[in-house]
Amino acid sequence: MINIAIDGPAGAGKSTAAKAAAAKLGFIYVDTGALYRAVGINALRRNIETTDVEGVISTLDGLSISIRFIDGTQHVYIGDEDVSVDIRLPEASMAASNVSKIPEVRAFLFDLQRNLAAENNCVMDGRDIGTVVLPDAQIKIFLTASPEIRAKRRYNELIEKGTPVDFDVLLAEIIQRDYNDSHREIAPLKPSEDGIVIDTSGMTIDETADIIVDLVNKL
Ligand code: DC
Repeated sequence: MINIAIDGPAGAGKSTAAKAAAAKLGFIYVDTGALYRAVGINALRRNIETTDVEGVISTLDGLSISIRFIDGTQHVYIGDEDVSVDIRLPEASMAASNVSKIPEVRAFLFDLQRNLAAENNCVMDGRDIGTVVLPDAQIKIFLTASPEIRAKRRYNELIEKGTPVDFDVLLAEIIQRDYNDSHREIAPLKPSEDGIVIDTSGMTIDETADIIVDLVNKL
């Protein structure tokens, strides 16, 4: 199988570029952030603070999180419930960032990610795909962009979906999440040593996707 690992901070264009590249290549696209979001909203629904480590760990017992592809699009399930819309609610972002610091949560989601990559040609995006989940991926890319540009992209995305947001709040949250994600002890966000770093600040999604497709075609 061909596995492409795409990592980088929130809003670097990972998901859109990875999705576009996967479509051009005929690969599945796996968004691993969605899994951490599902663990996060599951805890919130049970009235457990996502900073309460023991509390979050207790929610993993008997929890079933899965991914199904419907018309080529990833849907995330908690049990039999499709939570693909709920995991995009603004509160799910910080919840995901909080639960992602917990080693037990990362271990809980590890096999699911590994198995998908073992069984499919895939473009998988996240924070630790090239460094931890798929260290043997044929291509590893780290996408980044300035915090302001990333906040602006998120802002446009949410406004397009009709979700009211404040740009400054979004920017502060992105800076806070970057800090959380790159300073945690386990699987911190960082480029893998054998990866390619691409700054997407001045690039369109299509240009970024084309770079990924070109790299695959050169394999
Ligand atoms: O990609 P995203 O914004 O949906 O991810 C939500 C959070 O999940 C992010 O702040 C960090 C965490 N995450 C992670 O720790 N490892 C991954 N492979 C993907 C996401």
